[in-house]
Amino acid sequence: MAAGRLRVTIDGPAGAGKSTVASRVAAAFGLPKLDTGAIYRTLALFARREGVDWDDEAGLAALAARMPLAFEGGVGEAPLRVRLAGEDVSAAIRTPELSQGASLVSRHPAVRAALLPVQRRLAEGGVVAEGRDLGTVVLPDAEVKIFLTASAEERARRRRAELSARGEDQPLERVLAEQAERDERDERRAAAPLRAAGDAVVIDTDGRTLEQVVERVIEEVARRTGRSPRRG
Ligand code: DC
Repeated sequence: MAAGRLRVTIDGPAGAGKSTVASRVAAAFGLPKLDTGAIYRTLALFARREGVDWDDEAGLAALAARMPLAFEGGVGEAPLRVRLAGEDVSAAIRTPELSQGASLVSRHPAVRAALLPVQRRLAEGGVVAEGRDLGTVVLPDAEVKIFLTASAEERARRRRAELSARGEDQPLERVLAEQAERDERDERRAAAPLRAAGDAVVIDTDGRTLEQVVERVIEEVARRTGRSPRRG
């Protein structure tokens, strides 16, 4: 398949490096990047503002169906901006509180069902999409599926470095504990739990640099689709 639509899915737990890898792979193949976690995060923020509880499945599904969400940028490595009713909420959705909120709202089957067409529409023209269930549920017929893993310690170290870079220093134990809580919920939920698709390429990122992981994914996409990456 040298021409035509290309959809690459990158799934995995928090801190496995999905976001960086997805941005770099999107840039290499000139595709937009879709960060589906940002959709759940924005819904959690929207719910908070509208006074809808993160446990209220029906209320959240109704909100999801009318969420005034827009993505900007996201092609290649251009920074992805997320707008809620026109307001740039890109930074506001990245707090630890909204990480938990996103994980909580995403448990509800009715919420996932309401957000499914939104994600598919955003992926329509070809995409590198990252999240938890892209290869299994959202884009089960994607041309290339990747599943990234890493040990809990390594993922927590990366998350902590990310938070510190934004001026939010947190002890490693706290990051580890919050991550464990979120992993457990994301993996155990009945609706679209985190797991690798049967036809996904599973890459353990422990002991590899993100650079090496990016190269490995780019090779995989090139090999399977016959496309050549742009080298930057
Ligand atoms: O990737 P992230 O950390 O921004 O995701 C936040 C939460 O959203 C995550 O804990 C679970 C949920 N999520 C999901 O259920 N399905 C996805 N495809 C992406 C995220």
